[in-house]
Amino acid sequence: MSANDEVLLDEFARIIANSTRLAVSTGAGISKESGIPTFRDAMDGLWARYDPEELATPSAFQRNPKLVWDWYTYRRELINAAQPNAAHYALVELENLLPQVVIITQNVDGFHDKVGNRNVIHLHGNIHRTKCADACKGEPTYIDLSQIEWNQDAGPPLCPYCKKAYARPDVVWFTEPLPSDALRQAYTVSRKADVMLVIGTSGLVQPAASLPFLAAEHGAKILEINPNPSTISNIATIRLEGGAAIILPKVVKRVRAYKKNSDE
Ligand code: OAD
Repeated sequence: MSANDEVLLDEFARIIANSTRLAVSTGAGISKESGIPTFRDAMDGLWARYDPEELATPSAFQRNPKLVWDWYTYRRELINAAQPNAAHYALVELENLLPQVVIITQNVDGFHDKVGNRNVIHLHGNIHRTKCADACKGEPTYIDLSQIEWNQDAGPPLCPYCKKAYARPDVVWFTEPLPSDALRQAYTVSRKADVMLVIGTSGLVQPAASLPFLAAEHGAKILEINPNPSTISNIATIRLEGGAAIILPKVVKRVRAYKKNSDE
């Protein structure tokens, strides 16, 4: 690490250590070092010829429910076989060090909850949950797959309540609205934040991508960790280039030191 990197890291950590209302916006990049490909990574193996943006839509599910169901089963199995990484654990420590930390995530892997973060807003749902595609008992009508028997090679089961619509993953697809409570909370947290830390998102999907801009308009400092430039990079006070699982633990180590010094 060069001297300049050290200075940037120190300044990055100092801004976080002084935060009283930290918002953390996370995207697929934070789970990359867990071995989960990001949304826009080229898909490999059986799925290489499909474009994720064409599978994650209501019309794709209508056209070919089995294809979309199988793709999500594949993604869920990848997640189940993976473990949260050092970046996820570093955010737990940050929550313990600072007065208020709220994570706003676009990820559906559930890793922030798995490691024990308490304040997590899920903008794009949860791949481990399943719901009725027709929301027959209201949105969302959750379905417990462990209670259903069906031929798993044939695609999704029918909803056990209406027996008409298919079961589908409880994730937000392109063209669908985000869960309204989650979105409302995310707007409030972004408006009130004094610092927003943006980790591992390309900033290509709205409305999630607008949250750092909203935070900045309301006076928050924006900090970014990403090996590549994103749509948010231009408004970042400091960006640290690199993988989250390497950089975030270094940042949190410095935050801990600042906190310890200021307590003494
Ligand atoms: P993307 O796949 O669009 O972007 C991943 C970002 O992570 C990129 O900016 C990478 O440079 C960055 N990245 C890669 N490796 C990293 C690492 N080790 N540490 C930190 N950053 C790293 O994923 P998202 O921005 O999360 O939505 O995508 C947002 C949404 O697009 C997804 O939630 C999904 C998709 O459409 C829906 O399904 C609605």
